[in-house]
Amino acid sequence: MDQFVIRGGRPLTGEVAIGGAKNAALGLLAASIMADEPVIIRNIPDVSDINTLLDAIADTGAGVDRMNRHEVCLNGATIRSYVVDNSYIRKMRAGYYMLGAMLGKYHYAEVALPGGCTIGSRPIDQHLKGFEALGARTSIRNSMVLVEAERLRGQHIYFDSVSVGATINVMMAAVYAQGRTVLENVAKEPHVVDVANFLNSMGARIKGAGTDVIRIDGVTRLHGTDYTVIPDQIEAGTFMTAAAVTHGDVTVRNVIPKHLECISSKLREIGCRVEEYDDAVRVIAEGPLKATRVRTLPYPGFPTDMQPQIAVVLAVAQGTSTVTETIFENRFKYVAELNRMGTNISVEGGSRAVIIGVPELKGASLVAPDLRAGAALVMAALAANGDSIVEEIGYIQRGYEDFVDKMKQLGGVIETVDSEEEARKFLLKQA
Ligand code: UD1
Repeated sequence: MDQFVIRGGRPLTGEVAIGGAKNAALGLLAASIMADEPVIIRNIPDVSDINTLLDAIADTGAGVDRMNRHEVCLNGATIRSYVVDNSYIRKMRAGYYMLGAMLGKYHYAEVALPGGCTIGSRPIDQHLKGFEALGARTSIRNSMVLVEAERLRGQHIYFDSVSVGATINVMMAAVYAQGRTVLENVAKEPHVVDVANFLNSMGARIKGAGTDVIRIDGVTRLHGTDYTVIPDQIEAGTFMTAAAVTHGDVTVRNVIPKHLECISSKLREIGCRVEEYDDAVRVIAEGPLKATRVRTLPYPGFPTDMQPQIAVVLAVAQGTSTVTETIFENRFKYVAELNRMGTNISVEGGSRAVIIGVPELKGASLVAPDLRAGAALVMAALAANGDSIVEEIGYIQRGYEDFVDKMKQLGGVIETVDSEEEARKFLLKQA
């Protein structure tokens, strides 16, 4: 099994370019089948979650032409099957977007129950509540979610919790509902706005994405488009925090600095210098890192998908920090791994980590528990004194394109190997 071998202790320096946002692209790909014309999507990241969804879309009969590594042309005109199920789609979360897209267009969809990282119970009740309000019947049978409707009518829907997935899913279905739908208490994440902009570029009439209320006037037809995915906020944040924990100096390019403000301001509190340019941010961590408090919140709050990465920075900051997770209940599984590197972190009540900063991390043998925590462990290993192995890297490859190459470009000593023997050889070469 592939693993990463890492020799830590070198500051990351230089420039790195960020790819398209995985979570936005997943929504866009599903939404693209709602037109019966060619839809070109550019700047898609080449990561396994995206490739899994593209395979599932191709299985429905839709045209999927991978023009090159980062551009794809889809066409929903040839869809024959409204059933989305394969062993891979069951492992990811975003397959559920096919529910909203197909319910809107065909008034019928059957999709395997979503999986994804095991960071909490991750129910889909708000998705189903929204579909039902629009007039659909929903049921779950044999691990498949089934939604069907004779007709969809616009409604006033108030979500009980702020959910990125439910907002995007119900918004997609409502594009083809008769009349006006008003969605309240919606998610405001950049990828919600991106999916709305994408659908509008296909002829949808969506207003208010990025605020608490989204208004959708139903249409009967969507047309083709040519659209470029926004940059990935979480990939960018990961490299920003990697610069901080290794006491480096990294310029993160191809980003929208506004989407990174919550991360930039935390890094400044911690003692880093963060410079913002039109489409880049530079993080310089010269001085000592200081403790702070972090609380995850829906956008524009601090993203839960950056929680493990900021915790790694705080693990080596002077003083006692707290990190409170308010979105998912099971997102501290990486703490046990980090503590084997010499950190002093305790988790109280499952939702709050108390982090007493230590002067340095020690290399260790680590297992990635999920996507973002996996990336955080790699950051910790790059900062640590000594050598580390990170196993279960498939999680990381779900969401980060060329992660190892990008870290190497910044001076990180890291390689993908498939045996202990290869790991030893790599480390010997570094000596
Ligand atoms: C998306 C992101 C994920 C990110 C999360 C929060 C994708 C593919 N994944 O996940 O990376 O961590 O947003 O920013 O875009 N909830 C319910 N009922 C529902 C739906 C959600 O109670 O029907 C709860 C969840 O358990 C969680 C909270 O709402 O506590 C937020 O979840 P949600 O925003 O839906 O996350 P995802 O869309 O699954």
